Amino acid sequence: MSRRIGGFDLSKQSVLSHLWRVRAQCLSLILYALFSSALNAEPVVDLIYSGNIDGELEPCGCSETGNMGGLKRHATVIDRLRAATPDVFAVSAGGLISAFTANEKLTAEYILKGKQALAYDAIGVQWSDLAYGEPFLRPYALPWVATNLASDQFAPSRTITKAGVKLAVFSWLDPQTAPDAAMHFGENRLSTDGKALVEEIRRAKTGGAVTVLLTTLPYAQVKDEFDLNYVDILFVKAGYEVFGEPKLEGRTLVLQPGSRGMRIGQVTIMLDRGNRIASFEHTVHLMPPDVPDAPRMEAWYAEYNAKVKAAYEESVKHRAIIDAGSAAYVGAMGCATCHQSQYKTWETTKHSGAYHVLMDVNKAFDPACIVCHTVGFGEEGGFVDDLLTKHLVHVQCENCHGAGRDHVKSAGTEPLAKSGWPKEQVCGQCHVPKHSPEFRLEEYWPRISH
Ligand code: HEC
Ligand code: HEC
Ligand code: HEC
Ligand code: HEC
Repeated sequence: MSRRIGGFDLSKQSVLSHLWRVRAQCLSLILYALFSSALNAEPVVDLIYSGNIDGELEPCGCSETGNMGGLKRHATVIDRLRAATPDVFAVSAGGLISAFTANEKLTAEYILKGKQALAYDAIGVQWSDLAYGEPFLRPYALPWVATNLASDQFAPSRTITKAGVKLAVFSWLDPQTAPDAAMHFGENRLSTDGKALVEEIRRAKTGGAVTVLLTTLPYAQVKDEFDLNYVDILFVKAGYEVFGEPKLEGRTLVLQPGSRGMRIGQVTIMLDRGNRIASFEHTVHLMPPDVPDAPRMEAWYAEYNAKVKAAYEESVKHRAIIDAGSAAYVGAMGCATCHQSQYKTWETTKHSGAYHVLMDVNKAFDPACIVCHTVGFGEEGGFVDDLLTKHLVHVQCENCHGAGRDHVKSAGTEPLAKSGWPKEQVCGQCHVPKHSPEFRLEEYWPRISH
């Protein structure tokens, strides 16, 4: 019979077995101490990484074989990896969104929202991420890193500590490929000083961190431009859908994250006593159709689809208004029939190419720019995008004369919306000091007079 006192079983047999258990525990403690001191000598860094999503929220579904990505599957894979290794770091090279066609803006919003749900530790800023302007990114509060771009929204670096390992992430925006350096980063916001970056990384390294540098450049170029002595992990450009194997170059592990959200890399790094990479194991996680969508992303996806549908219906409605000839703005071609000579003159002015200059700097989707480089943006019947309202790109007659539908319908008897405006007021809508510092009416008017 055994007696229980305060939960302890005091029978002889149980005391013996308890002693055995204590001994076994001591032994395992000793083993653990030995083992963990070995671990201390060789700490491990677990890192999940991914690269460009390039605006692809979900696989297109056009072909099974090309169907390798999408944020819903991404969430499934990343959740599984986190379940197996809770202290894993997650770093993205950025390049999340894309702005080649006007339809991509809504998708971009939902990519940012979806990426928020994936809870990355650090995300590099690439030029494509700035395609809709910086304010566009703000609501999603992603852990952006842009070391050489001064910004209240992007951190110059991020240091994250997990399981005793300090990871310091830096990101370089290549000044040579800046799409609109002149327009946006002219106020000394973009630094071209590679030495300053190297110094920041050196400081983090000597402070005991494992350092990560995110770039979009080929390895050969990074090696030429930067001293990589203090960089443990370097992200370089990957070919479009062509992924290179990770390589240890000197003491730097070089990774190519890839494109179109098609894969997630996982790397387990063993550090030596000098806190440098001793060895690494690399695994690629692909996301073919048999990877299920994460249920936790369902609501996000349903909301996205509902918005896409609503936007489509809105554009159909808009199209119908344009087709019925009842939109307030008609476009310059609608004036040309009766005002041939004015039209011919206008065609020779810079106004008739004002949208192209936005395209040249990859800003044709930014509302902050479109407003002065197209007709009637934000107004009923005005410019929406260059698919639906192609006839309203550039600065045209109706920017200065006002919406002309009624004037056209009445064969010129109804006055235009801005009829009677003095020239100063007409030009002053756009030629404001910030955007046109050289503007003098007496010099500018003769250049467009018609
Ligand atoms: C069907 C022919 C026709 C079309 C199309 C037409 N106009 Fe006119 N417009 C006229 C006629 C006729 C007059 C002269 C009316 C008058 O003097 O009373 C006129 C006068 C004007 C004037 C000078 C008077 C004023 O109101 O300032 C401007 C500016 C003008 N048009 C701009 C435009 C613009 C911009 C468009 C395109 C949106 C356009 N017109 C389309 C026939 C046309
Ligand atoms: C308030 C109106 C306004 C806004 C907003 C505006 N622009 Fe302009 N933009 C102008 C005017 C006016 C000019 C012509 C300046 C001149 O030549 O005096 C111009 C000229 C330009 C040029 C031609 C420069 C050159 O050297 O030929 C570019 C490029 C340009 N804008 C890009 C942008 C971008 C990008 C944005 C958004 C960030 C933007 N603009 C927003 C009014 C505007
Ligand atoms: C950048 C502004 C601007 C643009 C663009 C513009 N106009 Fe004008 N237009 C003016 C101003 C300002 C006047 C008034 C000139 C005056 O008072 O001397 C004017 C005058 C006119 C007149 C009256 C001419 C006259 O002899 O009284 C017509 C017609 C006209 N514009 C048609 C057009 C048409 C058609 C287009 C497009 C193909 C066009 N304008 C584009 C600013 C503009
Ligand atoms: C709706 C906005 C808008 C209005 C209104 C406007 N402009 Fe412009 N203007 C622009 C933009 C944008 C450009 C730059 C186009 C480019 O570089 O392709 C420009 C360029 C010009 C240029 C060429 C400058 C150069 O670099 O050679 C002249 C001249 C000019 N505008 C005169 C005028 C005058 C005069 C008026 C008023 C009668 C006027 N504009 C009204 C937007 C406007």
